[in-house]
Amino acid sequence: MKKKRIVVGNWKLGPETREEAVRIFAAVRRAAAPLARTEVALCPPFVFLDAVRNKAGKNVSLGAQDAFFEERGAFTGEISPVMLASVGARFVLAGHSERRSRGDTDEVVARKVAAIAARDLSPILCIGEKIRDQGGAYLAELSRELTDSLARLSARGRKKLLIAYEPVFAIGKNWSDAMRPHEIHETALFIKKILSDLYGKEEAFRIPILYGGSVNFENAQDIIGSGGVDGLLVGRESLAPDNFTALLAAVDAVRV
Ligand code: PGA
Repeated sequence: MKKKRIVVGNWKLGPETREEAVRIFAAVRRAAAPLARTEVALCPPFVFLDAVRNKAGKNVSLGAQDAFFEERGAFTGEISPVMLASVGARFVLAGHSERRSRGDTDEVVARKVAAIAARDLSPILCIGEKIRDQGGAYLAELSRELTDSLARLSARGRKKLLIAYEPVFAIGKNWSDAMRPHEIHETALFIKKILSDLYGKEEAFRIPILYGGSVNFENAQDIIGSGGVDGLLVGRESLAPDNFTALLAAVDAVRV
């Protein structure tokens, strides 16, 4: 059977309470259980991970939004991959543009990706250009970001890796500002080419590529159907259970 597509929900700084987190997680679990071709990973804020972990179930697993690269020591406020593993996380985002804009360099992201994979968790490495110029400088930006962020990942760790392509200018915008499927497709191929150069074709084609940036229940189907990606990274819409349920059904209905 073909590998399932994956929809990752990035809750960012929401919701405000533990009760609300449990309610949303449970609603998504109900929506995900009957899906045939799709699995879901939800990334709540750290403080809610333990509250929702027993809600993970068929087609739904737990993820985190970030992790620090050291496992112990004087690092006030940080959370390590081993801690995340101990509360049941399977996926961890690394290098989201909102973390990069708050100081995570490619070097920091590379350490995080390696540390996450070292604990047998799946790093979801986020990359994306800030602007799309006519001359194609954005391709060099993407290539550098990808290569540098993967610089410390072991051969074993690669087997756990996912890439989320999120053009920064498309995040948090109107739904109509999501990137068009044909542009996503072209970029996904470009990313596969870089991965092939790094790891060889066979391995590169096994690494799932997700698209993120203003995905909702209306545009998700087209992106999965013609965007050449294996899944989606969804922000705002993953906190709205009715819309997210519709999005999951739309994605699951695509036969490719
Ligand atoms: P958005 O966020 O779906 O709200 O645009 C996506 C993301 O930043 O992961």
